[in-house]
Amino acid sequence: MSEVYPIPAETAKSALIDEKTYHEWYDRSIKDPEGFWAEHGKRIDWIKPFTKVKDVSYNGDVHIKWYEDGTLNVAANCLDRHLAKRGDQTAIIWEGDDPSESAHITYRDLHERVCRLANALTDLGVKAGDRITIYLPMIPEAAVAMLASARIGAVHSIVFGGFSPDALAGRIQDCDSSIVITADEGLRGGRKVPLKANVDKALETCWSVKNVVVVKRTGGNVHMVTGRDSWYEDLVAKAAPTHTPVEMSAEAPLFLLYTSGSTGKPKGVLHTSGGYLVYASMTHQYVFDYHDGDIYWCTADVGWVTGHSYIVYGPLANGATTLMFEGIPNYPTVSRFWDVVDKHKVNIFYTAPTAIRSLMREGEEPVKKTSRASLRLLGSVGEPINPEAWTWYHRVVGDGRCPIVDTWWQTETGGILITPLPGATPLKPGSATRPFFGVVPLMVDAEGKELLGATEGNLCIADSWPGQMRTLWGDHERFKQSYFTTYPGRYFTGDGARRDEDGYYWITGRVDDVINVSGHRMGTAEVESALVAHPKVAEAAVVGYPHEIKGQGIYAYVTLIQGEEPTEELRKELVNWVRKEIGPIASPDLIQWSPGLPKTRSGKIMRRILRKIAENDYGALGDTSTLADPTVVDDLVENRMNRV
Ligand code: WT7
Repeated sequence: MSEVYPIPAETAKSALIDEKTYHEWYDRSIKDPEGFWAEHGKRIDWIKPFTKVKDVSYNGDVHIKWYEDGTLNVAANCLDRHLAKRGDQTAIIWEGDDPSESAHITYRDLHERVCRLANALTDLGVKAGDRITIYLPMIPEAAVAMLASARIGAVHSIVFGGFSPDALAGRIQDCDSSIVITADEGLRGGRKVPLKANVDKALETCWSVKNVVVVKRTGGNVHMVTGRDSWYEDLVAKAAPTHTPVEMSAEAPLFLLYTSGSTGKPKGVLHTSGGYLVYASMTHQYVFDYHDGDIYWCTADVGWVTGHSYIVYGPLANGATTLMFEGIPNYPTVSRFWDVVDKHKVNIFYTAPTAIRSLMREGEEPVKKTSRASLRLLGSVGEPINPEAWTWYHRVVGDGRCPIVDTWWQTETGGILITPLPGATPLKPGSATRPFFGVVPLMVDAEGKELLGATEGNLCIADSWPGQMRTLWGDHERFKQSYFTTYPGRYFTGDGARRDEDGYYWITGRVDDVINVSGHRMGTAEVESALVAHPKVAEAAVVGYPHEIKGQGIYAYVTLIQGEEPTEELRKELVNWVRKEIGPIASPDLIQWSPGLPKTRSGKIMRRILRKIAENDYGALGDTSTLADPTVVDDLVENRMNRV
């Protein structure tokens, strides 16, 4: 039995949803999903109201449609509809990498910036349905670019600024973007990131791109290609400050976001307009118990889905004040997060366990010397939060006063699916607790048989919710294959979970070949193909292993081609190679030279064994008799890298 943290009286007093309401709404959302979602679909502004609510099948060809005959414009929902009431309210607080730089942008100002860029993009020939690749640092222009794209009915695809030119090129090619919006350089922790130079490199292999728009962030020297590249500032200065939003169908694509799968190249997860916005805004309001006037800060990057749903779309649809942070938690000091909380009087703070763990290592003093009196609620996302980090976050950061919402969801789900609601859910450290309205989690065993009651198994979702992804860009077959064939008729999350006697969910981590490094998803197959692309590598196998700060680290077994020497230098070279091929987030933490890999007689690598060795759990390797050459295992155990 783990400790239970009751709902604080202070929280209960003002919370939007109390325990009774949660259960009433939840029951209704399951018994009458059409009625429930018809009602909550009205929380956004429709140009033409929907009459159909839901048309979903998880079988056969799989289709997912919500509010399909309604029309709207997502950017108008995030901007125009707030102007009368809150034109002068701050929409975005921007906090620069350097603590001396910050800005407040009102809804009116943001609206004008978005209109100008929408006009500028239209002048460049970008039309509804076209793909816009955004490769920007955490600056207000990133939100402006997203909303301008939505305003003209285009489809944005944001590529995280930490990805390499090759990774960027792959994502541009997959969706045939006609335009890239980038900056001269990014700035993180005082270091410059050569974004424009990376785009130039990427575009050597991308033929679809006609225009590159460059924001001046650092003023660094960049090469501008005549006829292709233009400065953002010049374009918006020339453009008109008003723009009529384009009327879009509820099911029109809003954005694509590439994420790692268990095999092959990244998947282009497609989200559409109406259902996504209903779900992102509703979860933002109730999970974070957002009240008018609250200052809300999500520390994610807009390159990840968390930034899409909970920095930009959810908060802005709700007329919230959302803080956007360019920097990192330990620059210039390890008090930075809490200094920013005090500077801007942040009430709601949402971050990842990996950040908590790395700050925890620095002790309490850098936290305790700040006030944090404005904080009311804390959130966690991206990976399981270990109870030790949870209690530190609660006791030290929140002074024992602020509930923590541990929110479980995925790029594919568009918004939070399993989470506490602060006024409705007693907390257990390490548990994401209960499903959000309309969400029916289902536990199954390896054969797909449903497991009832307190149990442990694979986590599926029984039916759709409005924020669910609709397909994979250009590959509906892979969409079906990835999510609906393992357990036919159910959405398979790829996660394992435990459900306790109170019906609380405890996410145990991925059960597929995806690893979670500092809350970032990485396909082991992607790292493997980067490694084998190196001329000295014959074969590679990559697995995750428990890492104190990152949650999981990347452990690579590498077989060199005949005659190559395994040296420390080569080890470093391979790490740099992967950084260059994919990006720093894919850097292997440990590389083990392995003369052979454990394979079955049919040539399949037995990853189970590799995982065990990487976890330093080599005593329990299980049955190795089916291996083609059982002796390779002895060598791997002998030379294992993770001795704890
Ligand atoms: C995977 C999704 C959700 C936005 C950020 C990551 C893991 C996410 C939690 C949590 C335990 C979590 C899962 C999931 N995950 N949140 N609160 N507790 N695990 O999005 O990159 O699509 O990764 O992150 O394994 O499947 P993503």
